[in-house]
Amino acid sequence: GGVTRAPGSDLTFQPVEQNFLDELVTANGYRYSVVMRWGDPVLPGAPPFRIDRQTPEAQAMQFGYNCDYIGFLPLDDRDRQALLVVNHEYTNEQLMFAGVAGESAPTTPEQKRIAMMAHGISVVEVQRHGKTGEWRPVRNGRRNRRITTDTPMELTGPAAGSPYLRTSADPRGRTVLGTLNNCAGGMTPWGTTLHGEENFNQYFGTATPITESAKEPRLARYGVSTTRPPGRRWDEVDPRFDLAREPNEVNRFGWVVEVDPYDPTSTPKKRTALGRFKHEGANVQIAEDGRVVAYSGDDERFDYIYKFVSRKTYRPGTDSASRAHNLTLLEDGDLYVARFVGDSPTGEIDGSGELPADGELDGYGEWIPLVEDGRAMIPGKDVAWVLTFTRLAADRLGKQLDANGDFPDPANPVVVDAALVPTKMDRPEDIQVNPVNGRVYAALTNNSNRTGVNGRPGADEANPITRSYAFEPADEEAGTPATFEQQPGNRNGHVIEWEETGSASGTSFTWRIFLVCGDPQFPGTYFAGYDRSKVSAISCPDNLEFDPAGNLWISTDGNVLSVRNQAVGTLGGTNDGLFAVPTEGPERGYLKAFLTVPLGAECSGPLITRDARSVFVAVQHPGETTGSTVENPSSRWPDFQAYRPFPRPSVAVVYRTDGGRVGS
Ligand code: FEO
Ligand code: CA
Ligand code: CA
Ligand code: CA
Repeated sequence: GGVTRAPGSDLTFQPVEQNFLDELVTANGYRYSVVMRWGDPVLPGAPPFRIDRQTPEAQAMQFGYNCDYIGFLPLDDRDRQALLVVNHEYTNEQLMFAGVAGESAPTTPEQKRIAMMAHGISVVEVQRHGKTGEWRPVRNGRRNRRITTDTPMELTGPAAGSPYLRTSADPRGRTVLGTLNNCAGGMTPWGTTLHGEENFNQYFGTATPITESAKEPRLARYGVSTTRPPGRRWDEVDPRFDLAREPNEVNRFGWVVEVDPYDPTSTPKKRTALGRFKHEGANVQIAEDGRVVAYSGDDERFDYIYKFVSRKTYRPGTDSASRAHNLTLLEDGDLYVARFVGDSPTGEIDGSGELPADGELDGYGEWIPLVEDGRAMIPGKDVAWVLTFTRLAADRLGKQLDANGDFPDPANPVVVDAALVPTKMDRPEDIQVNPVNGRVYAALTNNSNRTGVNGRPGADEANPITRSYAFEPADEEAGTPATFEQQPGNRNGHVIEWEETGSASGTSFTWRIFLVCGDPQFPGTYFAGYDRSKVSAISCPDNLEFDPAGNLWISTDGNVLSVRNQAVGTLGGTNDGLFAVPTEGPERGYLKAFLTVPLGAECSGPLITRDARSVFVAVQHPGETTGSTVENPSSRWPDFQAYRPFPRPSVAVVYRTDGGRVGS
């Protein structure tokens, strides 16, 4: 109550239908243009892109692969010039190089080095084109930059220099080369960008299998293989990725990286104070007391949501002294992990599809400290340990521990204080603060293992889905019509919202579930109470964005929706897309599909400019389907070349043909 809808918040566009098209499909009245595609020149002197003549040197000067997060930093007051800051999360070698048979097929040393240069971050100067929201790159922009696995970065904060981060190449434990698997991110009020290092585990391996203690599974808890899995095998070309030769290199990834894109010579900073896990991203807000609050999800089944609160306070102002001060804010502060407590006896929405008796999946929450006032909250462990092995630390909260801070019996941890145990979530992805109502929103993308059977966790009120529905095709022989069936797990994900109690830097909050995703014609889906017959189907929410009016925009990754098609029965996994939904007013929950991305792609990045005339999206991994290769790709977007067709992950900008605000 009390919050009214912001002016200009109407979302009047006609929704896009679910489809399997190899095209970026926008709502009527909108147009898109490709801004940057894989291989486009970023730095002066970059050679033209040739898929069959690619080199590491060329790739290091060109736009990288699999664009994800998009940051947007204005260069002028009139919004004619800006910097795009784009993550390149990972590479699909089978779609980059001829002759690579599939996802885990072997690659040559040269191909591995090209892939390394296709990771990282691009900074690209862009300018508005014409009177609409279209933007185009500025050739050889002065601040253009490529950050790759070769770029030196400084480790900052309490874990920097600790024994856990020292390597033979860096005995001081303060300088790392590169950033890996940058997924989502955020912008700070002082004009920097934050980049989460997510699935860094896949880059490490060893020919000499490692045995680690069950008491402290530093590798296993992060999904790092203790042997040599097929696939990337970067250890074959760079020994620092060999876990046996360089055991601490892996500890230097899994952080949040802060970049100052305005200064192309600046050294990116890994912010150890925010903890180490599979950081989806990080988004900040300034609390009432001036401290900086950063939210970050750990994207793994049954992992946690975290909050960092800076020790020092934000200084408004763009003078160089204020900016220099603000650039240190993420170096030091408290780290918390979230506990969500439901207020209803049973939190399950699935099965009957009934909400709890109080009509809401909701409750209160607490931020449980891991590091507070410079002290580690796990007895027997130091702050650097808690920040470097944050997953192990969060697992220990509220449990019985020995004098070393370990479980006496790791196979059977004993809870001694349930109020200190954080909540295992359904793959926390992007977290974003609504600029209009101040609430925080987190996407929980899915959890195939939340089934409540075979020893796996069941539902709680914050993660209330253990069964989801999917279409089942007609069986002509048996004479059964197309129908739908229940499948185990939270297949379509959900979105949760919370409001901090008192101050954003405080330690308690109230929460409720905003959306339970899925096909709205099935029981158990929920759109903030809005009439389900009117909304678009949505599956696997991933990145979040707000327009200036406070509407939530949600991009999806891995849509498992199927559409009933009279001719072929069921088709699974329609194209991912971008959706918009009001968070306030009579249309709260009225979710509509705004665009869909080409076949095999996920939609990421979404970035809405402050004038609301442009929506940037990153079309990540078009053509990433089973058996799709350079020779026989399932997508040819965006070039649709006749000779050697292959897809190119690209950033596109979507705008109204009449130059109006997007959404309206
Ligand atoms: Fe890279 Fe969690 O999505
Ligand atoms: Ca409730
Ligand atoms: Ca993501
Ligand atoms: Ca994802």
